[in-house]
Amino acid sequence: MTCRRQGLILPVLALSSLGPGRGRALAQGMPLPLTPACHDRAAPTIAQTEGPYFRPNAPLKRDLAADAPNAEPLLVGGHVQDVHCRPVAGALIEFWQADENGSYDRRGFRLRGHQFTDEQGRWWFSTIFPAAYWTRTRHLHVKVQRPNGPMLTTQLYFPDEPRNGWDREFEPRLQLAMG
Ligand SMILES: [Fe+2]
Repeated sequence: MTCRRQGLILPVLALSSLGPGRGRALAQGMPLPLTPACHDRAAPTIAQTEGPYFRPNAPLKRDLAADAPNAEPLLVGGHVQDVHCRPVAGALIEFWQADENGSYDRRGFRLRGHQFTDEQGRWWFSTIFPAAYWTRTRHLHVKVQRPNGPMLTTQLYFPDEPRNGWDREFEPRLQLAMG
């Protein structure tokens, strides 16, 4: 399913298994990865279901990893661009995900948060590797909304996961580029 009305592209890059020192360095303003190649009239990011565990009003929060200090850390970031490859500043990015045991916090806001893209359309979260659960492969949930625009809801997947082959929601075009 393609969300042409939204027309947003969400190229993402996951920086896996970085220690807390690197995470702090990024938080203090280390340069983010370069903007990926984007061709004019690129296909918008595919929309997917939000699933049953979304909760509205998640806090403005970039450091989700602090919610699960014993889990394997993950830095995930990227850019929001329009279909003409122009960065979208001030776009809302909201994340929610399962913890290291495959459970979602359904009462509070553990491993849930939102932020806004900078002037270059960049965003990033310090978080953890979610565990696969039930019928689902490992994934992250995300919503993206340009200022005053419609909401794009989608999911991000991890390459080379054993469950990718039989999760019916898995979409190879939404895989993270691991670095
Ligand atoms: Fe999920």
